[in-house]
Amino acid sequence: MSAIAIRPLNPTIGAEIHGVDLARDLDRATCQAIHQAMLDHLVIVFPGQNIGPDRQLAFARHFGEVEPPHPVFGRVPEVPEVTVIEQNGGGADGIYNDVWHTDVTFRARPAMASILHAQAVPAGGDTLWSSLYAAYEALSPAIRAMIGELSAIHDYYMAFGDTVLAGRGGIRKLAEDIQALPPVRHPVVRTHPETGRKALFVNRVFTKSISGLSPIESDHLLRLLCEFAEHPNYQLRHRWRPGDLAMWDNRCTMHLATSNFSGYRKMHRITLLGDEPRR
Ligand code: SIN
Repeated sequence: MSAIAIRPLNPTIGAEIHGVDLARDLDRATCQAIHQAMLDHLVIVFPGQNIGPDRQLAFARHFGEVEPPHPVFGRVPEVPEVTVIEQNGGGADGIYNDVWHTDVTFRARPAMASILHAQAVPAGGDTLWSSLYAAYEALSPAIRAMIGELSAIHDYYMAFGDTVLAGRGGIRKLAEDIQALPPVRHPVVRTHPETGRKALFVNRVFTKSISGLSPIESDHLLRLLCEFAEHPNYQLRHRWRPGDLAMWDNRCTMHLATSNFSGYRKMHRITLLGDEPRR
């Protein structure tokens, strides 16, 4: 086993992992320690990993099944499992991920983990994560009781509809995507399948409405829950350096990438297949 060292960044969310070189094959004990670190700290960062997309994929496969390519973002041509997330600063081009979200909750089985590797790092463009365990646990018992049995609709179209429509595939691609990815229903509070802890499970990008409520009730309750979970008390903020690799538990976190940067920002992302969220 590598001499793995886990350095927590705060008591709620985030740890740095040292003593692991992702350019090399990892043994079982090291993988178990990494998996446990992710469960304990939700977001783990491996600073300065000098690896290509093939090694990122090999790393990802230690922890689960890799998701099919993302329907909208580009991909690395020779390793299509790796999604490319790139933007030029100042709103020049690219899809900005600067609104709080949990990856791909528009799928019936949203990703269990995401693995992001920094390729081109401008000044700024930090990523923030929030613990949805901590947010849930901080809600008052009355609100927890109210939301415990609720479900919400998550919708691909809400986030990507306009972008896809304006893109090369236009209405044809949009129609295909909507057929492949119809709106799905998830519990508002999910129980983590490994830790047994409860986490809020709504986000601003993909959660469209709360089932069984009137539009005004749904909008206000969603806003309340999202705003509550965005408090800095539950957050980690990472300032990227080239080669940094972050892996996060997508079942109990949400995140955003700040658009406060100039120049070119490029990330390689792999998402791992998750299970169907349960109460
Ligand atoms: C993402 O939203 O999954 C990517 C976040 C980032 O680019 O920092």
